Amino acid sequence: MNTDSTLHIEKVTSTRVGEVDFDNLVFGKTFTDHMFECEYKNGAWQRPTIKPYGPMLVYPGMKVFHYGQAVFEGMKAYKDENDDVFLFRPEQNLERINKSSKRMAIPEFPKEIFLEALNELVRLDKDWIQKGDGNSLYIRPFAIATEVGVSASPSKEYKFMILLSPVQAYYKGFVKVLIAEKYSRSADGGVGAAKAAGNYGAQFYPTSLAQEKGFQQIIWTDSNEHKYLEEAGTMNVFFRINDTLITAPTSDRILDGITRKSILDLAKHNGVNVDVRKLTVSELIAAAEDGSLKEIFGAGTAAVVSFISHFGFKDKIYELKEQSDSFAVMFKKQLNDIQYNISEDPFGWRKKVELF
Ligand code: COI
Repeated sequence: MNTDSTLHIEKVTSTRVGEVDFDNLVFGKTFTDHMFECEYKNGAWQRPTIKPYGPMLVYPGMKVFHYGQAVFEGMKAYKDENDDVFLFRPEQNLERINKSSKRMAIPEFPKEIFLEALNELVRLDKDWIQKGDGNSLYIRPFAIATEVGVSASPSKEYKFMILLSPVQAYYKGFVKVLIAEKYSRSADGGVGAAKAAGNYGAQFYPTSLAQEKGFQQIIWTDSNEHKYLEEAGTMNVFFRINDTLITAPTSDRILDGITRKSILDLAKHNGVNVDVRKLTVSELIAAAEDGSLKEIFGAGTAAVVSFISHFGFKDKIYELKEQSDSFAVMFKKQLNDIQYNISEDPFGWRKKVELF
């Protein structure tokens, strides 16, 4: 049982917000004044605490360093023209981090504490959120195994933390992607559907090889045959062939993206024909060659919607022409307008942060 679930708050004595160059932020490098921390030990989550952002005590023997027992989430807060602040589908992130935790043998985190801590943390650091298109506060909840011991077994101690980082757009402009032929990000029965830390770390090497060839990201294919198109970099991926929007079904291998599912709902709302199915590389090449492939775009919290201008496959580069009736542009605008409280939110996705 939890010993004391009352949120304890230690505020900074003076804010660092005045020192930040908000026009030149590097994604995820600047953190706000406060962070959230809750320890798990003796079979229970301990007192949840908000405290000044800063270094923490770690021991080299902690299991997270040896076995990568760690999960994370990505979410955002947005400020509207009246200085009101909104989260986007926060319960979905909590549900997903708990699913990821279960897969990584980490205890689930209580929903009420998460939502209260999130509201309070964003409220305290609301002055770090800039208004305007592309500006937001990236929220990084994560859980790590903190028990000391290198036996290969689940930790008995953890830390659940939330950091806040003011950000601008993740990708500026168009992205070139390379279709994976050798490496895979996930496999059946693996951790592809979880936001497990090592799942992302394992992408760095193949991505760096793609970058040497002039691509920013990889379109991941299935690990068995490299036949099916699955994700793009750290995002879900959508294809438009003629006027049908296609994306892979979620599975063990594919993250159940919140932006992904929101785009699927928006597509249905807009009367767009949606086909959630496996798309093969050869179908994609055929569609690129006969002109029916209109668009490819990635979808994720950090990048929102990321426009793909070229894709590479086996030494050949295929270019995608800009569409005057782009689905990607339409979904990005509709999502943005909901997130920034510019339009109505018929889906009930937007959650106002209680600022006072
Ligand atoms: C997100 O979109 O939140 C991600 O997971 C990307 C992150 C790895 C920067």
